[in-house]
Amino acid sequence: VLQADFRLTDLEEGRDPYEVLAALRAVAPVAEVEGGYVAVSGHAAALDAMRQPGCASGPIALLYLDALPEGAARDEMSHRINFLDAPDHPRVRGLVAKAFTPRRVAAMQPWMEATIEGLLDAAEAHDTVDLLFDVAHQLPSLVISEMLGVPAEDRDLLTGFSDAVAPLLGVRVTPEQKAAAVAAAELFHGYLGALIDERLAAPGEDLLSALLAAEEDGERLERVELLSLVATLYSAGHRTTRDLFTNGMSVLLTEPDRYRSVVDGRWSVPDVVAELLRYETPTLYVARVPMEPVVIDGVEVEALTPVIVYLAGANRDPDAYVAPDELRPGREGPPPLSFAFGAHFCLGAALARSEAEVMLAAVTRRWPDLALAEDELRWHQRGPFRGLDRLQAAPNG
Ligand code: HEM
Repeated sequence: VLQADFRLTDLEEGRDPYEVLAALRAVAPVAEVEGGYVAVSGHAAALDAMRQPGCASGPIALLYLDALPEGAARDEMSHRINFLDAPDHPRVRGLVAKAFTPRRVAAMQPWMEATIEGLLDAAEAHDTVDLLFDVAHQLPSLVISEMLGVPAEDRDLLTGFSDAVAPLLGVRVTPEQKAAAVAAAELFHGYLGALIDERLAAPGEDLLSALLAAEEDGERLERVELLSLVATLYSAGHRTTRDLFTNGMSVLLTEPDRYRSVVDGRWSVPDVVAELLRYETPTLYVARVPMEPVVIDGVEVEALTPVIVYLAGANRDPDAYVAPDELRPGREGPPPLSFAFGAHFCLGAALARSEAEVMLAAVTRRWPDLALAEDELRWHQRGPFRGLDRLQAAPNG
């Protein structure tokens, strides 16, 4: 394995992650980096790593057993669906897939289209709108609340809890972040536990009731697994979609010609969303741990070496995409790896795409002259998630 002068924290220091990842990829698409990790930053190599059953996720769950005190945060992370391997993973995933059907997702479309119009009405009462808070945060959190049957007025409480837990997904967590996550997880699970009891007593039409019903049909799901799953759906259901839309809008508005191309219909909304997923990947990386020696893109990796798969690096690999650092909606090339690949491919991919398309179509239709009202964009990175804390824009230019 080639050694690269790279630390995982290089991406957390406010630098452009794409430059850092390009430099890493130039050394080798599969490289040994500081701290005993293997970093994968090429497209073919990322696909290869995620496709191999030998590259497991389960050992990550075990790390949380050591790292966290007994309680909700530890229960959630150590049972989290994306850190499970067979046989637990197909059992839990099958249950969600059964409840989270394409039909259920398609049925949300008219509801989303009506909801976004109401959100834009409320937002345009002001001279400037915050595309993050007024739009990108609202629709996905309303959608996942509606799907799970969480009362809409409680959504900010729950998104607050899940945002506090999110840093635990990163490779480095400060003691303050850990303490905040542990406290928030207790409250989060307390809330969700009460909601589960309500649905057990009086089932409704929501996803949570469907999960409980699917379980009654003979599938086994422990209470702690169910709590972890619902908490994961809630957080996965809003944060990344919020970041996809906000990060994407910043890309379109910093070069107003791009935004104009969507308004004019020169670029189709689905093509733009697909290209933004590639160009500003919301989840920069996923992790895997080989249970046995594996060969990733021709490179031997020893058992138990943590492998960090940089989806954001794969998505800008010049071996996979022509002029990868240019935004070219409708471009040729493989689908971006933003939703990962293989056994853990994102369960919410279709929903997330459709939410982003609904938001982009509504915003460009309603505000054709929308202009950025920020002097400087401040990017943050929390765990694997890259995003902005706000994105002010003027609806009338
Ligand atoms: C732009 C939005 C989204 C992005 C970029 C995204 C990204 C991802 C990625 C990269 C993974 C794989 C994790 C791994 O391999 O370790 C994943 C898994 C998952 N996502 Fe998403 N996601 C998005 C939206 C959603 C939504 C809206 C939901 C649900 C409402 C969702 C639910 C899940 C679940 C349950 C998994 C775990 C699947 C498994 O382990 O089998 N995601 N997502």
